[in-house]
This record gives sequence, C-alpha cells and structure tokens, in this order.
Amino acid sequence: MDLNMTGKIALVTGGSKGIGREVARRLANEGCDVVITARNAKDLDETAALLSNETGRRVVGQAGDMSDSADVERCVKAAVDEFGRIDVLVTCAGSSPGGLLEELTDDEWMQSLNLKFMGYVRTVRAVVPRMVEQGGGSVVMVVGNDGLKPSFWEMTAGAANAADLNFASSVADQYGPKGVRLNTVNPGPVDTERWDGLEKAFARDMGVDQAEARRRAEVSIPFGRITQPEEVASLVAFLASDVAASVHGAHVPIDGAQRKALMER
Ligand SMILES: NC(=O)c1ccc[n+]([C@@H]2O[C@H](COP(=O)([O-])OP(=O)(O)OC[C@H]3O[C@@H](n4cnc5c(N)ncnc54)[C@H](OP(=O)(O)O)[C@@H]3O)[C@@H](O)[C@H]2O)c1
Repeated sequence: MDLNMTGKIALVTGGSKGIGREVARRLANEGCDVVITARNAKDLDETAALLSNETGRRVVGQAGDMSDSADVERCVKAAVDEFGRIDVLVTCAGSSPGGLLEELTDDEWMQSLNLKFMGYVRTVRAVVPRMVEQGGGSVVMVVGNDGLKPSFWEMTAGAANAADLNFASSVADQYGPKGVRLNTVNPGPVDTERWDGLEKAFARDMGVDQAEARRRAEVSIPFGRITQPEEVASLVAFLASDVAASVHGAHVPIDGAQRKALMER
C-alpha cells in the first residue's frame, strides 16, 4: 500500500532505539524526512546516520530530554528551523518502572508520570498549535495497553498510559476540527531494550530467571508471542498517513489480544 508520504516532515521522540527507531525507519522508507530525539547524542547520531544511509532521506538527530519543557520546545523549534514544518508527530520517548505497590517509591511514580505522561503532553503542546498554523497535521502517540487493562506489576505504566489516553481523546476532540488528526497506538510487550529490562526486573521481583519471566509474558498473550517493533511501526505509519484520513481519536491496541496482567500472582 502506498502511504503517499513523500516529502512529509516527521518528528519522532525517543527515535534512537526500539519502537521509535523502527517508526523513524519506516517513515523515512515511506518518503518522509525525519527528526529524531533522545538524550544520548552518540546513539542518536549513529541512528540518524544509519537511517539516512539506508533510506536516502534526511534523518536528523536532535538531542534533548523530553522530561524537560525547555528541551522539548528547543527540539521542536530546531525541527521547524531545519525543515520549515512538522506534518507528523510520533511520541515514543517513555519508560515506566515495573514493581510492586509496597516497593515502588514516590520518585519512581513521579519519574513515570513526568516522562510517559507529561513528556507526551509537552511534545503535543509544542507541536499541535504549529500544525494548526500550517493548516494541519497528524499525531500518533505510542502509549501502551496497560492504559486499557489492570496489571499489578506495571501500575506506574498503567497510570501514565491511562492519563495519556484521556489526554489524547481531549486533544483529538479539540483539534480535529482544526485539521489535526490524533490517534494512539497501544502495544503489549514489544521486543526492545526496554522490554529486556522489564523481563529482568520481573524475574528479580518474582524470584525466577529471565527465561521464565518471558514465558509468563508469552502465555499472557493469546497469540503466544512478543510483538516486534516493526509491526508497531507499520501501524503507526498507516495512522500517521493520509490513507487513514478518517481515523481520528482512536486508541488502537497491538498486543496479540493480551487482556491479562503479564504475570500470574
Ligand atoms: N517495549 C514494550 O514492551 C512497550 C510496550 C508498551 C508501550 N511501550 C512504549 O513505547 C515507547 C517506546 O518504548 P521502547 O520499548 O521502544 O523503549 P526503548 O527501547 O527503551 O527506547 C526508548 C527511546 O526513548 C529515548 N528516551 C528515553 N527517555 C527519554 C527522555 N527522557 N527524553 C528523550 N528520549 C528518551 C531513548 O533514548 P535515550 O535513552 O538516549 O534518551 C530511546 O531512544 C515507550 O513510551 C514505552 O512506554 C513499550
């Protein structure tokens, strides 16, 4: 399917690794020029160079911490200075610690909310008014299926994700009539560096080895397997493109129909 994205400008936060890197790769392969953000400038520059070489499009790194409003604003401004506009925004810079109620600290809760919720708020707030001014745009927030179901070991992610989904619905309601389409993509477990860290942390908290933690995650998914980041990237690219022009304010799961907590108690 041709997504008709040639010449569009995309900003992908958290684009140096994992889902964000695959989204940036896919959008560049679809003809977009892409700005990616992350904190570690070395990883970012390596990914930008790799994707530029692979795709023949301009992929540019802009280092910044999405838990800091000034950094978010600086990265968004740099993207506009570089390319003149932002047609597509994909928010992927997030992480929330797993853990049990008795053990999670205030700092861990606040860290999750400050990046996974407020980081997405800051980025959408910086980009959407610019999209309105330029005559429209499309936003995809990569959130997570823990916002849609309870998971006793992933409460911090669940709370931040649920807040993101509510925020996304409100922004969609307000800005759809002004030409900005906004949807969320909600993965279950996806094979990335972050997922590897979560498996290790489950294993620690449950007193099992990592292979057993992975097995328990897999059996919580009816399809019995962990999603690959390329699959998430394909869904994001479709929703970001004009091919999905009538899809707006949707919260789309991509999780092999996982409806249970990752681990049995
Ligand atoms: N993997 C899963 O199973 C899964 C499931 C559901 C939802 N999600 C969500 O999908 C998104 C991407 O997850 P992932 O698994 O791809 O993560 P990942 O492999 O850990 O990659 C995260 C990316 O975000 C960047 N990042 C992290 N903190 C940042 C910050 N404060 N400011 C700017 N960039 C930051 C990282 O680079 P630096 O470290 O250099 O900053 C990296 O580029 C997250 O929001 C996550 O919650 C993931």
